[in-house]
Amino acid sequence: MKKILIIESIHNHGIDLLKGNKNFEFQVVDNTDTEFLKDKIKDCDGISIRTSKLSKEIIDSAKNLKVISRHGVGYDNIDLKATKQNNITLAITATANAQAVAEHVLFMLFSIAKRNNMYNETVKTGKFSDRTKLPKTIELWNKSILIAGFGRIGKCLLKKCKGLEMNIFVYDPFVSEEEIKKVGGTKINDLNESLNKMDAISIHMPLNENTKHLINYEMIKKMKKNCILINAARGGIINEEDLNKALNEDLIFGAGLDVFEKEPPSLDNPLLKNEKAFLSPHSAVFTEECLSRMGIETVQNIIDFFDNKLEKSKIVKIS
Ligand SMILES: NC(=O)c1ccc[n+]([C@@H]2O[C@H](COP(=O)([O-])OP(=O)(O)OC[C@H]3O[C@@H](n4cnc5c(N)ncnc54)[C@H](O)[C@@H]3O)[C@@H](O)[C@H]2O)c1
Repeated sequence: MKKILIIESIHNHGIDLLKGNKNFEFQVVDNTDTEFLKDKIKDCDGISIRTSKLSKEIIDSAKNLKVISRHGVGYDNIDLKATKQNNITLAITATANAQAVAEHVLFMLFSIAKRNNMYNETVKTGKFSDRTKLPKTIELWNKSILIAGFGRIGKCLLKKCKGLEMNIFVYDPFVSEEEIKKVGGTKINDLNESLNKMDAISIHMPLNENTKHLINYEMIKKMKKNCILINAARGGIINEEDLNKALNEDLIFGAGLDVFEKEPPSLDNPLLKNEKAFLSPHSAVFTEECLSRMGIETVQNIIDFFDNKLEKSKIVKIS
């Protein structure tokens, strides 16, 4: 019988796959302290993990561990070197969350374009008659959006933006012009040169040494005054200090962030008080439907691994 540790609770639909399965015994823990996890993980064969840190120290103490199943697709919380050195397979819930994140991007785009916070507040505070004095909102129709990172989520967002009749541009050095053209997008080769043409920019690439602080003050300065910048990928791809400065200088219309350089962000992070920043607590995938799909997929990946059926597309290639 294989021992499975579910680190951080998941949707019941996932747990149901393990309940009554004679091949597995499992435990769910919400404590993510290093010493606690080192003890819990030491005789486990497989684990599921959400966003808490899985350090080398924890991985090295898991002598039987064969598979780490990420409840999600980003894996910057996991020590990849230790995972590889210990010959552990890393799986992701590759098919579960693109729809939810793409919808969240649209939610942010519309909320910012329509100045949702301000207009909602105006009615609720009895200031309805001030409606004509409010700053104007903007339309998304016929506007240009740059999707930076064209993987599962970027592709899903493109389809939704087509429905809004937007002009879609894609920046992803690893995807060919033909592939982008086939689905109705235009490939951008030079990110810097494209910035002054975009009405919206949405980031969908991984965080790594090449993408850290990719978007900085100088780049935001090149953007249109009415540009809406969204990051629902990983905190740190946009330099937060630079973004806050740029918003204060009215360099762009607004920014939507689902992810932060430090999570949770410090209470003294100025973006928390910036009226032009629209924020959510890394919750793009928190739809009932998506959490169910992720819960099922993270457990199914563990089961499939031990049945030698885990699809290659769900396994992370660690270089
Ligand atoms: N907010 C959330 O809750 C949430 C949920 C899921 C995923 N994410 C994040 O969203 C991002 C995208 O996820 P995905 O499932 O689409 O990943 P994916 O691996 O399918 O796609 C990522 C794309 O980024 C491209 N890319 C890599 N480096 C790049 C660079 N320097 N410039 C431009 N493009 C580059 C890759 O070629 C790839 O096409 C990841 O950062 C992931 O961690 C966030």
